[in-house]
Amino acid sequence: MLQKIQETAEFLRGKMNTAPETAIILGTGLGSLVNEITDKYEIEYKDIPNFPLSTVEGHSGKLIFGKLGNKDIMAMQGRFHFYEGYSMKEVTFPVRVMRELGIKTLFVSNAAGGMNPDFVIGDLMIINDHINFFPEHPLRGKNIPYGDRFPDMSAAYDKRLIAMAKEIAAEKNIRVVEGIYLGTQGPTFETPAEYRMFHRMGGDAVGMSTVPEVIVARHCGIRVFGISVITDLGLEGIVVECSHEEVQKAADEAQPKMTTIFREIINRA
Ligand code: HPA
Repeated sequence: MLQKIQETAEFLRGKMNTAPETAIILGTGLGSLVNEITDKYEIEYKDIPNFPLSTVEGHSGKLIFGKLGNKDIMAMQGRFHFYEGYSMKEVTFPVRVMRELGIKTLFVSNAAGGMNPDFVIGDLMIINDHINFFPEHPLRGKNIPYGDRFPDMSAAYDKRLIAMAKEIAAEKNIRVVEGIYLGTQGPTFETPAEYRMFHRMGGDAVGMSTVPEVIVARHCGIRVFGISVITDLGLEGIVVECSHEEVQKAADEAQPKMTTIFREIINRA
């Protein structure tokens, strides 16, 4: 495992002419931030040794190196989801490669269903904590010596970055909400009873990603900041039909706001 991670990092280092300390994982429908990256160098996942092979024909995803404003960054356009059939080791493999490459801060984004009655579709939710509801833990198995066997999770989402995000949002007149992301495997959207349960368990938003990558990043000592774009609502008593198309559309409309917040934090941090 460690050898594979190092091999992949070695390969990428050979292609990179920057040394970014910031990485971004772009979620469903949230890829437009890549249009703001300059001095771009792109590598398709399928051309990266040891990267998981895509389960979707023609949707391999890519790693992008370049500049966002004045900062060197690396971005993942497309992530690996557990529901696609990848193991947790595969889902989180790129994060461990990031650690080898010297990444210090990880920005994550996702589309999520809102369960907090104060939320509206299109809201940006700053993630201040998460609930891991995946059926397998990404750190299960022999401990990789990037971190402790029993890693602390008391502040998984960086408080300073959260404060900065709120400041920037206020400055730019962007409405943001804050809350707990509950990660579950999917691929079904929730039944009304499941939304109710997840809300009562303490979740403000629910989605099918992010938690595995965040856990592994924290295990590696990488700081994390995350935003959920609320693309649909699963509120008690008013759960309506949800489709992938609606999720895409809402994500598409909200992504300029998310891009602004990510860009500004990265440039000020
Ligand atoms: N549930 C789970 N995942 C999601 C949702 C949802 O309502 N919306 C976007 N991703």
